[in-house]
Amino acid sequence: MTTAPITAGLDLGNGYVKANINGLVRVFPSIAVKQFNTSHHTPLGDDEIGTFMNDIINQMDVSFSSPLVRSTERRLFGERALKSGLNLEEFDVFARTGKAEVDLSGVLALATIAADRLYDFYDKNGSLPVSGKLKVKVDLATALPIGEFKHHAKAFKQKFLNEGAPHIATFYNFERPVHVEIVFENVYVANEGESAQYGLMLAKDQFLDMIHREAVKRFPNGELDGITGKDLVSAKNTLGIDIGEGTIDFAVFSNGKFNGDASSTMNQGYGTVLESTLTKLQDEGYPYKSRKELSEFIHNEPSPFTKKKWTHVKNVNQSEENRFGDVVSSEVSKVFSRVGGFIEVIFVFGGGATPLEWSLFNKLQSRVAEFGDDNLLPIVYLDSAFSRFLNVQGLFQVAQRLRPETANTRKLAKAK
Ligand SMILES: Nc1ncnc2c1ncn2[C@@H]1O[C@H](COP(=O)(O)OP(=O)(O)OP(=O)(O)O)[C@@H](O)[C@H]1O
Ligand SMILES: [Mg+2]
Repeated sequence: MTTAPITAGLDLGNGYVKANINGLVRVFPSIAVKQFNTSHHTPLGDDEIGTFMNDIINQMDVSFSSPLVRSTERRLFGERALKSGLNLEEFDVFARTGKAEVDLSGVLALATIAADRLYDFYDKNGSLPVSGKLKVKVDLATALPIGEFKHHAKAFKQKFLNEGAPHIATFYNFERPVHVEIVFENVYVANEGESAQYGLMLAKDQFLDMIHREAVKRFPNGELDGITGKDLVSAKNTLGIDIGEGTIDFAVFSNGKFNGDASSTMNQGYGTVLESTLTKLQDEGYPYKSRKELSEFIHNEPSPFTKKKWTHVKNVNQSEENRFGDVVSSEVSKVFSRVGGFIEVIFVFGGGATPLEWSLFNKLQSRVAEFGDDNLLPIVYLDSAFSRFLNVQGLFQVAQRLRPETANTRKLAKAK
């Protein structure tokens, strides 16, 4: 059964997938698990399927047949993967095999789309497809880190397009397998950080107010008086600093266009902080196994029993944050010595922005001041709670413009 093509923006982050499919935003950890015990598999009964659908990412058991995925084994995702106790398939923030080359990118992209299609079918029909088969056509925009884009974007796009042939995702949670055939009709691969800038450029009123509030709160002496949110996001010459889990992308825009020559990627991110905290704690005998586990412990309130440990862990993590703040700000100096002359506004965003703010913001300000002339150069430091989603929102906007009859993506930078 076929339906209208879907529009998908997919930000396949080192830490988390951010997906926007037909306007619905989802976020889940970028992990999967293979080689779990499938012999205990009990198919879901009819009365259990509704509950499954509402938590599909965390429950599904899926295999893939696609040029994007070499290993055709069944995989689990989200919470079921985390709780399986098995080795996680994760983007490795140290090994520099790119996102375009590992199975996980394809796995996460296809899984997200297949889950959306199956969810949608069940939502409309109240049952699984009798034929055991669903089809879906997709307009997709996704991104690669700036450092990877140059050499891999084209091949990555071709793998999605697959010469028009379908990618197949098969669900094993039910009495009989359900196959979802995915055909990508239009695909656009952007640079991470570039897509976030599109998210900013195309921001609507409420969001513009938020950007403005965030900006002025860090310039308490009225430096930004008279400047609106729209002014900030409409600046033609900008530097975007996207602090992710495994990479920091420095995306430069000149005259309103992405400037690939001046943009770059640093192969470290907030995950580097977590990894080095983890190593320190393990040396001290603490039993944490993964940076996800550590991150969960740090980001949640401690109980009276864990308070002492939490305080210690937090202190170790803070000193790593501070050290990493120095690393990032000296990298910013390098970028700035290349492009500082023409930059009008700096944006800082991504999941790592807020955790690093206490250490990083002042350092950035003084680094930038070293290059100073008398011009005001606002650093618009955006809260991670929403700025983690800038890339995916920009990608969704791009995906909406991929059909020839709607618009030309090249015009995107100008379209405000
Ligand atoms: N509310 C939050 N929920 C989850 N993680 C958060 C949150 N706020 C900050 N973080 C931190 O942000 C990081 C993930 O950021 P983000 O989602 O931007 O990275 P990513 O896009 O997955 O990675 P990359 O850009 O390197 O591919 C994690 O290391 C996490 O610890
Ligand atoms: Mg990211």
